[in-house]
Amino acid sequence: MMGRIKIVVLVVSLFLGTWVVPHNAQLSYNYYKASCPNAEGIVRRELLRISLLDSTAPAAFLRLLFHDCQVQGCDASILLDVHGPGTDSEMKSYRNFAIRKREAVEQIKSALEAECPGKVSCADIIAMAARESVSLSGGPRIGIPLGRKDVRTCSHQRADSYLPSPSISVDGFLQTFVSKGMSLEESVAILGAHTLGVGHCLNIVDRLYNPAPTDRMNIAFRARLRLKCPTRIPLDNITFVSNDLTPGIFDNQYFVRLLAGKGLFHIDANIAADSRTLPIIRNFAADQNYFFRVFSTAFVKLSLTNVLSPPRGEVRRQCSHVN
Ligand code: HEM
Ligand SMILES: *[C@@H]1O[C@H](CO)[C@@H](O)[C@H](O)[C@H]1NC(C)=O
Repeated sequence: MMGRIKIVVLVVSLFLGTWVVPHNAQLSYNYYKASCPNAEGIVRRELLRISLLDSTAPAAFLRLLFHDCQVQGCDASILLDVHGPGTDSEMKSYRNFAIRKREAVEQIKSALEAECPGKVSCADIIAMAARESVSLSGGPRIGIPLGRKDVRTCSHQRADSYLPSPSISVDGFLQTFVSKGMSLEESVAILGAHTLGVGHCLNIVDRLYNPAPTDRMNIAFRARLRLKCPTRIPLDNITFVSNDLTPGIFDNQYFVRLLAGKGLFHIDANIAADSRTLPIIRNFAADQNYFFRVFSTAFVKLSLTNVLSPPRGEVRRQCSHVN
C-alpha cells in the first residue's frame, strides 16, 4: 500500500516536472549541443578540481543555487559586484551571510570562455555546479534543462526581503517552495540539502540561549552546541558547526537527525514538529532512495525559478559584471 502511494507521488511529481519545462520553452536538456558540446564535462572537471582543494566547496555551491534562484530567479544576480542605483550587490544583504565560492564560479566561467566564448551563462554554471556538487557528494545524478540567461540588475533590498530567515515558520517555508511548483514532499526534500555543509553560531545562538517553549532540541545536542557557541552574542563570525554528522556526504542523515531532535536551525526543528511535514520526514529517514527521487524533481523545479530566456537577459562575459 505504502509502495503504491509512493509510486503515485513519484509519477505525479515527474509529470509536474515535465509540465514546468514548456513554460520556459527555450530551455532544453541539450541546449549547448552545438554551441558548447563539452560544457557539462568542463563544469564537472572544474568542480572536481575545486573540491579536491576544498572539500567544503560542494555545500557552498548548493546553497549558492538556492540564494541565486530565491532572489529574482535563477539569473546569476548573486554574482554581480557592480554598485550604483538599481545594481546593488546582493552580497550586502545580511541574509547572504557566509555565502561562499562566488569566485570559484568565475573560475569555472573562465574555463568555459576559453573553450566556447560567450556561450554559457553564469546562471547555467551555478545550476550545473550545484547539480555536480550533489552527485559528487554521493547524492543523485540530476538532469537539468539548460539555457538560462543572466540578468542585468540586482538589489540587496530584494535579497533582504526574499531570502528566508532561519526562524521562518512552516507556513512561510511551504509558501516559498509551493510557489515554485513544488509539492509538499518536494518542499521537505529540498530542505534535505542541509545534509551538506555548516551553520555559523550567529544563526544558532538564538535556539541555544533563547529557545521557544515548544523547541524540542535534544538536550545533549544543545549542550554540545553551547560548548561550540559559548556566548549568546557570538564572539566572532568564523565559528561554525556541521549541519549533520556527515557534512560532506549527501545522504538522508539530515532527516534521521531531525527525528532525534538534532536539527540545527529553527526551520529544521519546525518541520519535524509539524503534523503536515513530520510523516514525510519519517519516510525520507527510512528510505534514502525515495528521498533522492523526490529531491531530484524538487531540484529541477528550484533551478527553473523565474529563468530568463531571450530577448530577456544576456550571457555575461564575466560573472561579476554585466556586459
Ligand atoms: C526556508 C529555507 C531555508 C532556510 C531558512 C535556510 C537557512 C540556512 C542557514 C541559516 C544556513 C547557515 C548559514 C551559515 O551560518 O553559514 C544554511 C546553510 C545551508 N543551506 Fe540552507 N536554508 C534554507 C533552504 C535551503 C535550500 C533550498 C538549499 C539548497 C537547495 C539550502 C542549502 C544549504 C546548504 C548546502 C548550506 C550549507 C552551506 C555551507 O556549508 O556553506 N538551504 N541554510
Ligand atoms: C557578524 O555578522 C553580523 C551580520 O553580518 C553582524 O551584525 C555582526 O556585527 C558580526 N559580528 C562580529 C563579531 O563581527
